[in-house]
Amino acid sequence: MYIIGLLVCAGMLMTLLDGIEGVEFYTEKPAYLESCRIYEPEFTNCSTRSIQKFMNQVIKGIPEIYESFGPIDPMKQDQLVFKQDNSDIATISANLTEMLIHGFGKMVIKESKVSKKDFSWLTKIYLPTMRLDCKYKMIGRILLVPLRGGGNMSMEIDDLNILMSTKTHLYERGGYTFYNVTSVRVSLKVGKVKTNMENLFNGRSKEVERGTNQFFNDNWRDLFEALRPLVAETVERTLLKLLQKVFNLIPANFFVEDIPNSLTLYGRKTEMIA
Ligand SMILES: *[C@@H]1O[C@H](CO)[C@@H](O)[C@H](O)[C@H]1NC(C)=O
Ligand SMILES: *[C@@H]1O[C@H](CO)[C@@H](O)[C@H](O)[C@H]1NC(C)=O
Ligand SMILES: *[C@@H]1O[C@H](CO)[C@@H](O)[C@H](O)[C@H]1NC(C)=O
Ligand SMILES: *[C@@H]1O[C@H](CO)[C@@H](O)[C@H](O)[C@H]1NC(C)=O
Repeated sequence: MYIIGLLVCAGMLMTLLDGIEGVEFYTEKPAYLESCRIYEPEFTNCSTRSIQKFMNQVIKGIPEIYESFGPIDPMKQDQLVFKQDNSDIATISANLTEMLIHGFGKMVIKESKVSKKDFSWLTKIYLPTMRLDCKYKMIGRILLVPLRGGGNMSMEIDDLNILMSTKTHLYERGGYTFYNVTSVRVSLKVGKVKTNMENLFNGRSKEVERGTNQFFNDNWRDLFEALRPLVAETVERTLLKLLQKVFNLIPANFFVEDIPNSLTLYGRKTEMIA
């Protein structure tokens, strides 16, 4: 045991000195993690339960993730620069800053599937409510309304179902197999959406602004269709950042006990890092 411990330490030190992935990682499985075996039946049930338990822990706060990512709920996000001009319902250029996202603290993992072929994931997530607060600057046209303004914006989505497709690439580090999370795509289903944008017309008319927000909320389905790509991108970036942090810290072996190593899966020597 002692020798193995030393070897693992040496491995970690090597990694740190190499500076390739200059971060520490868990060399022991935390007690809150339930491992599943992908080559056994009922894997998806096990994985769904395991990921839910794990996310509960992430929400409570895992120090190494908290340190670099901050709290999960509310979650801070950097700015988002967004441009869309190929749609009938919206032509917008928008910059969102000081983003604060509420709601991921209550996330429900409804299903967590992992592909045996390429170890991509398909995850169904449910949030009772997601609320986005930010400052926006926007030029464009939504539902035929020409806009040029900026100020506070809030959007509250009830019953948000997220279907998340995640691409991963396996690699080896310190004798463990890790997920490199390379992309996250989401498809969103919403129950109800309420939006408020202040200063839509650069303060020219409070009356028209109120009327327009009212109009948007009366037509919230259309408004959401117009803003869907913007919301999807916000959610994708949020999840990608979180998942990259998490799976950089915790070996994939601790989630999927019988995961093949990258050499077996891809059959190439170049996948070795440490
Ligand atoms: C696995 O999960 C599905 C869906 O939640 C459920 O219908 C099924 O009964 C579960 N199977 C077992 C053996 O728990
Ligand atoms: C958003 O920011 C980009 C670059 O930071 C800028 O080019 C663009 O004009 C901005 N759009 C708005 C609507 O302010
Ligand atoms: C915008 O939101 C911030 C933070 O929520 C608040 O302090 C500020 O008063 C708001 N600005 C306006 C013009 O309402
Ligand atoms: C992870 O993937 C990104 C590209 O998506 C690549 O730049 C990076 O080097 C990869 N990291 C590892 C450790 O394989």
